[in-house]
Amino acid sequence: MNPFQNSWRRLENLFNAPFGQALNPWYHLGAVIYFLFWVVVVSGIYLYIFYRTGVNEAYQTVEELTHDQPYAGGVMRSLHRYASDGIVVAMLLHMLRNFIYGRFHGFRWFSWVTGVLLIWLVYICGINGYWMVWDRMAQFVAVATTEWFDWLPLFSEPLARNFLFQGNVSDRFINMLSFIHITLPLVLLLFMWVHTKRMNNAETYPPQSLAVGTLLALLVLSLIKPALSHAKADLSLVPETIRLDWFYLGPYPLIYAWSPGAVWALVGGITLLLLAVPWLLKPRTRTPVAEVHLDNCNGCERCFNDCPYSAILMQPREDGRPYLLQPVVDPKLCASCGICVGACPSSMPFRHQELVSGIELPDKLLRVQRADTDHALDGLRGNARVMVFGCDRAYDVRALQSDEVAALSLPCIGMLPPAFTDYALRDARADGVLIAGCRECDCQYRLGIQWTEQRLAREREPKLRQRVPLQRIETCWAGPLDKKRVHTALSALRARISQMPRESFGEEREL
Ligand code: HEM
Ligand code: SF4
Ligand code: SF4
Repeated sequence: MNPFQNSWRRLENLFNAPFGQALNPWYHLGAVIYFLFWVVVVSGIYLYIFYRTGVNEAYQTVEELTHDQPYAGGVMRSLHRYASDGIVVAMLLHMLRNFIYGRFHGFRWFSWVTGVLLIWLVYICGINGYWMVWDRMAQFVAVATTEWFDWLPLFSEPLARNFLFQGNVSDRFINMLSFIHITLPLVLLLFMWVHTKRMNNAETYPPQSLAVGTLLALLVLSLIKPALSHAKADLSLVPETIRLDWFYLGPYPLIYAWSPGAVWALVGGITLLLLAVPWLLKPRTRTPVAEVHLDNCNGCERCFNDCPYSAILMQPREDGRPYLLQPVVDPKLCASCGICVGACPSSMPFRHQELVSGIELPDKLLRVQRADTDHALDGLRGNARVMVFGCDRAYDVRALQSDEVAALSLPCIGMLPPAFTDYALRDARADGVLIAGCRECDCQYRLGIQWTEQRLAREREPKLRQRVPLQRIETCWAGPLDKKRVHTALSALRARISQMPRESFGEEREL
């Protein structure tokens, strides 16, 4: 077990008590960033209605917004600032979390690399925003930024010269700033879309209560500590005391404490290192990716719809069978999670002939899964016998094994076709089935829990058969450290099934 991951998990688990798993903000950081972005956009539109571009007007209108309408313009301004700060915090935590859980290599390199570009874009947008107020902080940021850029051999004339005298800054300059401040967030949004493009069903809206809670927290902060301007910019003076926004402007003092070149080395070095992370820290072995078996595929598209990383494409059929489409797996995108196997209608343990599904993981063949299930079921004894299906990334269900409990672990719980639950219960080979996976909303392969719940609730294909009694099934979403949660779920299930008469439902067999 990775000690960093476990410490991080413990930290995240602390939030499960007040928020519950479903609303734990750690599990929704990407969606929270999206939400904060929309808060910034809406508050920005309000500010823009009153904002006038001009050296004097810019400062004046921001002051009027802050002081003449504190409960509208003032709150909107503060919301705009604090939601922007929130984006930085949530983004850096989202990056750290993906890093600690090793979610950056292989098929995930694209999300990681576009994420690093997003950091730059977020910072550029935020820093540009500070210029818009044209107060002493804007003056400091303008001068420091241009001096920083002047270190690069890009410009024939030093940019910082534009801020030497009061008259150097014109209305046209503020106009240009304002144009940039509208264009950049659009570019940011485009990159946010690109960032999640390879993910099926990416979570870009947090759960409603989390969104409302976040907005309320920002509102309270805006009322308690409204965002205020410094004095109006005056290029004839050197700003003395500046209340820096450390979230965006943290590295700025280093430009003077060290040198512009040293700050370029720091920022450039960190960026290059981050960009290289997927290749520097890639695991030595690669798990085999999903393979299609056209003989058992009817082109139903379920695997295509369920794949969390859009690794499957449906293409015109080439094997002469009377179906329109066939799935094709892109090995570069496949996470080897097996969710497609759980989705395929051919993943039927009841079949008498050799069991091969339409799509399979070569190192986790379905016939082996069935043989292991048979073996586990045959060994069960007692009056509350439970078959547990778990996930390699979650709590290790093999620790639950006893005479009355058999356990099988899969790469992702989404790999479990609902028919396996039916298979374990139908001839009363087990009295109950416990289905366990990662913490709710924190599936290692994003959609495994969601699809499993929908399949068991008979809302998504392949649906659990109507004949299977739901009272005999328990689900439990628990991370590697959540021993108590799994044991509680197992005890609850065993207490329930021990009260139920043993039953088998029918002799009908599928071929
Ligand atoms: C504006 C900033 C960002 C936004 C809005 C954003 C948003 C998102 C969203 C919505 C997801 C999908 C979550 C899901 O449905 O499972 C995601 C995943 C991901 N993000 Fe970001 N992100 C941002 C910045 C970053 C940064 C800075 C990094 C790292 C450098 C990063 C790395 C990743 C990775 C690796 C995934 C894939 C995780 C997985 O496969 O489970 N993101 N991001
Ligand atoms: S194993 Fe997972 S990532 Fe690969 S094709 Fe199947 S569902 Fe998609
Ligand atoms: S789910 Fe199975 S049958 Fe349907 S397209 Fe995919 S491989 Fe073929």
